[in-house]
Amino acid sequence: MKNGSMQDRRISGFSRLDKEAKIKWVTEQFLTDATAAQEELRSFSHPDPQLQQVLDGFSENTLSNFPMPFGVAPNFMINDRIYAIPMVIEESSVVAAAASAAKFWLPLGGFRTEVSATVKLGQVHFRWGGSPERWEELFPEIQAILRMGAAPLMANMERRGGGLLDIQWLRKPEIGEDYYQLLVSFETCDSMGANFINSVLEQFSASLKLWASSADNLNDSERDLLIIMAILSNYTPNCVAKAWVECELDDMQRSVKTDDDVRHFARKFETAVNIAVHDPYRAVTHNKGIFNGIDAVVLATGNDFRAVEACGHAYAARDGQYRSLSRCRIENDRFYFELEIPLALGTVGGLTKLHPLARRSLEILDNPTAAELMQVIAATGLAQNFGAVRSLVTTGIQAGHMKMHLQNILNHLGATPEQNVAATAYFADKTVSFQAVREFLGA
Ligand code: MEV
Repeated sequence: MKNGSMQDRRISGFSRLDKEAKIKWVTEQFLTDATAAQEELRSFSHPDPQLQQVLDGFSENTLSNFPMPFGVAPNFMINDRIYAIPMVIEESSVVAAAASAAKFWLPLGGFRTEVSATVKLGQVHFRWGGSPERWEELFPEIQAILRMGAAPLMANMERRGGGLLDIQWLRKPEIGEDYYQLLVSFETCDSMGANFINSVLEQFSASLKLWASSADNLNDSERDLLIIMAILSNYTPNCVAKAWVECELDDMQRSVKTDDDVRHFARKFETAVNIAVHDPYRAVTHNKGIFNGIDAVVLATGNDFRAVEACGHAYAARDGQYRSLSRCRIENDRFYFELEIPLALGTVGGLTKLHPLARRSLEILDNPTAAELMQVIAATGLAQNFGAVRSLVTTGIQAGHMKMHLQNILNHLGATPEQNVAATAYFADKTVSFQAVREFLGA
């Protein structure tokens, strides 16, 4: 048991305490070394109080900041343009693998990308006492009312070239005989659009309620309308980017400068991707590798990685089985590897311009539009996937991983710079484990 009793650990009004009081309460109730912990938490605060206030504004009950490495993977050629990709990730060798894959493809033409569509979706879920036939009959009138009610919210987005695309309605009797849904599609241009979509959907709910209670062409059961909820859908199967690489196997052979036959590598690679297409156990790990790259850029650019992940995994299972998001084929001695992934992203709004490092990331990427960012991120996911699968079918993953992990272990064990150099040389051809490094250091 730490300092606080179970009773002390309960608190009301915590959010109203100032930051110092929050730090004090948490450290004293939950930690044995409260004073050291308080200093540590304070040490991660930003020295500029104004900037700290901005960071605190992103969340609630903040005690400090949680730093993560912010790096770049250079040499990405995407549609003939060179990028250095900003990545925020805590896992060893992800950035190195992305950079190495980018370098591999640089002399082979780099990455090609395209965006097939950028449609965002939202839903209003409700119960209604009338019949589907009657709803169908009334729908033109209802649509006009919905559009009119939301017009003031739409003006700004329409000026930017976006807005409401379509309103469909559907029933799902398996949810309830009187369950109805509005499925609404939007174009949100360079914003991810969550706030815009949710505001419009809530306005739709209000308009629907008002219509049901006041329209004079409805009978009693048709006046019975209950809004369940209104919320965007993070599933955006029509907001998709595609990235691919392709080359002649002979060109790959010349480019990688190896005596090994790249055809052998390419066939193993193709099989490895195919395994992930058909076997969900492998597909999850394979896609996790893709998201190593995707999430790192999504995070670095201040976008919502939970939304991107949830959507990507649903998309991976869109035919009823969870499958790889990437595909590989070798045809007529030509290697072709592609990734197709839904990415609902923004380059304006949300954190993108508020978080100083998200702003910098976007600047490093030449301030892309949302569609351009989708393509950059899809290319990064493909590069990450290529790097991981290439390691898996050649050296195995541990060689690269453990080399990077060695640095973490050395830091953890407080190795001196001299010990660091000696250990790096010693473990160059040996298996790295925590125990082995500890023994090497005599720690
Ligand atoms: C590790 O973070 C990611 C990998 O497991 C991905 C893969 O297996 O393809 C290496």
